[in-house]
Amino acid sequence: MKNFVYDIPTRILFGQGQVSNVGKEVKKHADRVLLLYGKNSIKKNGLYDEVIKFLTEENIEIVELSGVDPNPRIETVREGANLCRKHNLELVLAVGGGSTIDCAKGIAAQAKYHGDIWKDLCVDKNLELLTEALPVASILTLSATGSEMNGNSVLSNMKENLKLGFSSYILRPVFSILDPTYTYSVNKYQTAAGAVDIMSHLFEQYFSPDKKGYLQARIMEGLLKTVIHYAPIAYEKPTDYEARANIMWASSLALNGLTSAGKESTDWATHQIEHELSAKYDITHGVGLGILTPYWMEYVLDKENVHRYVEYANNVWNIFGENDFEVAKEGIIKTRESFDSLDIPSSLTEIGIDSSKFEDMAASVTKFGPIGTMKKLGYKDVLEILTMSL
Ligand code: NZQ
Ligand code: ZN
Repeated sequence: MKNFVYDIPTRILFGQGQVSNVGKEVKKHADRVLLLYGKNSIKKNGLYDEVIKFLTEENIEIVELSGVDPNPRIETVREGANLCRKHNLELVLAVGGGSTIDCAKGIAAQAKYHGDIWKDLCVDKNLELLTEALPVASILTLSATGSEMNGNSVLSNMKENLKLGFSSYILRPVFSILDPTYTYSVNKYQTAAGAVDIMSHLFEQYFSPDKKGYLQARIMEGLLKTVIHYAPIAYEKPTDYEARANIMWASSLALNGLTSAGKESTDWATHQIEHELSAKYDITHGVGLGILTPYWMEYVLDKENVHRYVEYANNVWNIFGENDFEVAKEGIIKTRESFDSLDIPSSLTEIGIDSSKFEDMAASVTKFGPIGTMKKLGYKDVLEILTMSL
């Protein structure tokens, strides 16, 4: 196992009714906050009124910014940062899904940064330039990204057709409230996409060509089995507390550093290719991943890495057999079937994407060299995976 430092500063308040603590938690860090949310979901399900009530009880001054888009835009980040400066705000409170939390992190960084975070952090990756940021906190309403417990922010610049991420320890939320009942109102489509996103985060870390990482693999198999078990239940019965709760905690644990700490390598090629699709077509992240993942699995399978597929098929799907490649392929089929059971599309054609931008996307994603570790994917490989996904 490789050396690592595991240090997560995010205080988690998990369970029904935890929102009543939001005022007290904010008060530890700030008297004036930017309250950031998406379109209308938190007003419809009553969460907005509760947040206002508990913040007001602690005499916290609130400036609001709403309308964060799925695939959050850099323009919203700039608008939020200007509000923070203008009103001398001390914390960014995101109430929503991954897009709102990612946008909050962008705002928290830009508010204290003199240059342009899009250029310096997202494009040029000069992460050492970010030395301070406003504290971020979140109330999560959609289980998917893990943004509630990590330092990642993925932002979109539609004018440049780019969707790029950056990550910083100082952007990890100081606290996150995880109340599974707030995810009852998430529709079937977003519930399915969120479950696939969680599974994909686990695949990206699980599938690596090395033969180490025993403990990490067992933790990830447990998380994968949890999502595979509970996602169809939440899909059919949105108000099933146990299902929503298990999926919610799985989403945080799948991408908070726990499952990659000490691992020799991770992959992340599928996410990089998906970000190209989201940037060019503004599609739902989890749906893009659901389409690409089984094709990626098929494409990168070879004799050097087949052992990972066999572990996965054995331990997650209970599939055994004499021939490693047959076992591996059965595992891939099961993966696709689990996505099918959530009505995730299985081709790009189904979501209206044709091959016209494949070359652009393949060039853009491999601009800095090959991606992934299971198999290093160059321009032609990415083109092939996209073509398989049509
Ligand atoms: O805008 P509102 O009204 O809130 O509606 C949202 C939005 O339309 C809705 N929603 C959220 N909570 C709801 C709800 N509807 C009803 N009831 C609720 N309780 O769901 C829609 C999608 O929301 P969004 O925040 O976009 O979804 P998600 O959490 O899947 O976030 C996706 C974004 O996160 C990025 C993705 O690329 C994408 O931009 N990612 C962030 C990561 C990270 N920070 O670590 C890693 C991921 O791999 C991913 O790249
Ligand atoms: Zn993801």
